Amino acid sequence: MITSKELKNKFIEFFKKKDHQEIDFSPLIPENDPTVLFTTAGMHPLVPFLLGQEHPLGKKIVGNQICIRTTDIEEVGDKTHFTFFEMLGNWSLGDYFKKQAIEYAFEFLTNKEFGLGLLKEKLAFTCFSGKEKIPKDQDAFDFWKEIGVNEKRIAFIEDNWWGPVGNTGPCGPDSEIFYWTSKEEVPETFDPEDDRWVEIWNLVFMEHNKKQDGELEPLNQKNIDTGFGVERVTAILNNQDDVFFTEKLNSILRFVEKLSENPINQANLSSYKIIVDHIRTSTFILGDDRAIIPSNVDQGYVLRRLIRRAIRHGTMLGINTSFVSKVSEKIIENYKEEFPHIQKNKTFILEQLTKEENRFKETIVKGLSVFYKVIEYKEEISAKNAFLLYQSYGFPIEMIVEIAKENNKQVDVDGFYKEYEIHKKLSRQGAEKKFKGGLSDHSENTKKLHTATHILNQALREIISSDIKQKGSNITSERLRFDFNFSRKLTPEELKKIEARANEVINKDMIIEKEMMPLKEALESGAQSEFGARYPEKVWVYTIGDFTKEICTGPHVQRTSELGYFKIVKEQSVAAGVRRIKAVLE
Ligand code: GLY
Repeated sequence: MITSKELKNKFIEFFKKKDHQEIDFSPLIPENDPTVLFTTAGMHPLVPFLLGQEHPLGKKIVGNQICIRTTDIEEVGDKTHFTFFEMLGNWSLGDYFKKQAIEYAFEFLTNKEFGLGLLKEKLAFTCFSGKEKIPKDQDAFDFWKEIGVNEKRIAFIEDNWWGPVGNTGPCGPDSEIFYWTSKEEVPETFDPEDDRWVEIWNLVFMEHNKKQDGELEPLNQKNIDTGFGVERVTAILNNQDDVFFTEKLNSILRFVEKLSENPINQANLSSYKIIVDHIRTSTFILGDDRAIIPSNVDQGYVLRRLIRRAIRHGTMLGINTSFVSKVSEKIIENYKEEFPHIQKNKTFILEQLTKEENRFKETIVKGLSVFYKVIEYKEEISAKNAFLLYQSYGFPIEMIVEIAKENNKQVDVDGFYKEYEIHKKLSRQGAEKKFKGGLSDHSENTKKLHTATHILNQALREIISSDIKQKGSNITSERLRFDFNFSRKLTPEELKKIEARANEVINKDMIIEKEMMPLKEALESGAQSEFGARYPEKVWVYTIGDFTKEICTGPHVQRTSELGYFKIVKEQSVAAGVRRIKAVLE
């Protein structure tokens, strides 16, 4: 038996021996990439460094990152999928490339002393077959062969491409490593369609940058980015064919089983898995220092959807009492050693889960009976009925579609969004975007708005109060959104003054410079930091002329005159003691 903790240690120690520096995990709610909802991969917090910025710890990095991928939500319940997972990776930021990455991976997997000691006969590989203008990755094929892999075990696939995280950014062909998980004899020729071969590691050869217009340009440096799913490999190493049977998750499944008094069987197993997965993801979202709470927008909506889906599956299993916070407590118990922040935020996590469960419980029973009546008499759930279930009974639209599907009915989803738009003035695009779990965008406009955010932050501190600190930020290519601590509404005069000060700075054509320094020195020098954020020991500090200084990973524009005219479009409250400003550049 190997535990997931032992596996993580092995991976990290192996790469440390190869001169990699270990990085701590970044928060699940991205810190320096305000354009995305969640961290979706280990490379995600490293994007600025893949684009060429110097990393404080050097060019060779290893680490374990907690990630959320809401795109996989429908898959949860099978043997391999999660919405939350831990991903190990090794990264070369313009240092070694394909050959060395392949050699390291092969050595780690097969070496008995320093690695996992897997049999090379049980491994298989895919390489990029080429697509449109990008040629076939013959090099990767040749390197695997050179290292001793039988060519029958290497397949070329068109899908072998990874990134960018959102619409733009670093990306490239990849090579995936598969492991034979069946007790049956390993076939000589590798068939990637045969699901007894399970993917365990993805090596991405990041040498392209996808631009706003969709074209690829070569990156200034060639990078390696790898992704290695911790639980998936732990299961494989222990000859378990289901990730939910690994030590930590299995004990949570059994805990839920006791609560339901309904023994786990093949028919109800997927509901158990959905409960465990969704409450684990919710626990980690609530455990993030950003203090996200269930709501109808952004991360808060994803959180609400996960909690409510877990509750519905609890109802299906006959759990009649409140159970979400109990399961979360068990999750915190199992994960607190490796992730102490969830223990630290335990009271908040349990409080929020209980509140949300009570809110939904009030309406779910009634809502379900309305639902079944609608289903009984109607061929399709109309937009109006879907919206009623959403608004009056709190059913997320995805849950409405899911229940309808279980009963072989359709939902007028387009019509629902029209209703939604009328009522909430929120475009469908906005609502759909939320579930992609990542919209990273490094376009010029986003960069400009990011610089404008630093200017706004300082203008607020100058004009309103020097106690103001950033509490959150979200930037799209169209607008910036900035949250800060302050207890009352700003007056129109104050907003005008802030705007005027920001435009004054922009017109002074100040130069934006960055410098790397130890965190302590950065803080002592007066650099702004974000409320509640965790920072590494060495950080980048961005200064805008003599106006402001902030700890930030970037990217930013070079001169303030690139920004144009700064305009505040809204100022509102988002929570007790937290205000929000939305602004644009014209
Ligand atoms: N970034 C590589 C992966 O997630 O597979």
